[in-house]
Amino acid sequence: MARKKIALIGAGQIGGTLAHLAALKELGDIVLFDIVDGVPQGKALDLSESAPVDGFNARLTGASDYSAIAGADVVIVTAGVPRKPGMSRDDLLGINLKVMEAVGAGLRAHAPDAFVICITNPLDAMVWALQKFSGLPPQKVVGMAGVLDSARFRFFLAEEFNVSVEDVTAFVLGGHGDDMVPSVRYSTVAGIPLPDLIKMGWTTQAKLDAIVERTRKGGGEIVALLKTGSAYYAPATSGIAMAEAYLKDQRRVLPVAAHLTGQYGVTDTYVGVPTVIGAGGVERIVEITLDEAEKAMFEKSVASVHTLIEACKGINPALA
Ligand code: APR
Repeated sequence: MARKKIALIGAGQIGGTLAHLAALKELGDIVLFDIVDGVPQGKALDLSESAPVDGFNARLTGASDYSAIAGADVVIVTAGVPRKPGMSRDDLLGINLKVMEAVGAGLRAHAPDAFVICITNPLDAMVWALQKFSGLPPQKVVGMAGVLDSARFRFFLAEEFNVSVEDVTAFVLGGHGDDMVPSVRYSTVAGIPLPDLIKMGWTTQAKLDAIVERTRKGGGEIVALLKTGSAYYAPATSGIAMAEAYLKDQRRVLPVAAHLTGQYGVTDTYVGVPTVIGAGGVERIVEITLDEAEKAMFEKSVASVHTLIEACKGINPALA
């Protein structure tokens, strides 16, 4: 049986980390692609030279020509520019939309059967545009945000409760922006919902409110610390979890930016919702009943995504 092929479009901070993780996990052979000639080749060679020490079997190559991604099973897109301090994800829209157009054409020509995971920001608008530019089936084109946002929420909760991160589950809905919706009532410690933990005296509403706010601004917190770019270890780890769910047909229940066709009252928009990810891509969208407060927050978040999608249409009339 041939090895799976994973193509990484963008060989920057996240792209390099994705390559390292995919190799260590032996998910398949890996192609790093970037417009800056030398960088993908250099990272591929450097990582290949770590293989004898770590003992993994994966062929890593670098390329600056889209033909190299031909036949990829999974494509993870991080091409574009990241945030600098003071920038919002939305400030990246104009530049990264052009990048999505080029990547979409590359996918259409060389990897039409791939499962595509977009990480480039502003996430929900970029994955929407990438699906349009590529013409790939919407259930095979998703955005990575919810796995990362819920991982941040889980980490903060685990610290607050002084328990293992493994036993904390978290539920985050909505767009990947500062108005995302971390759901307190659907987040748990070993199955015990957070509101019950307040009643049990484990924490207070005020502390939980502060954690929710920190989660919403989790990306900005890292940008402010790094100063030269945005987060990459946790984003890459989250992207790999989604790739693995697809490649191994795990049918994992993961929050991803998925194409909605009426679910949650939203049409032709990508936004973060719980999904089942397996060999078919997005095999199911899980539609929970939101309470009034969650509904209001979700709608606000969707409205922000809509504004960005309209801005994309304004910049590139082909998307309208
Ligand atoms: N085609 C291919 N690669 C491109 C293109 C393009 N048209 N334009 C830029 N790139 C490459 C850059 O050369 C760079 O190597 O994309 C890479 C981006 O890497 P970084 O600048 O290190 O950014 P990174 O931290 O990896 O984040 C990438 O993910 O989380 C988002 O906001 C983040 O949009 C950003 C993206």
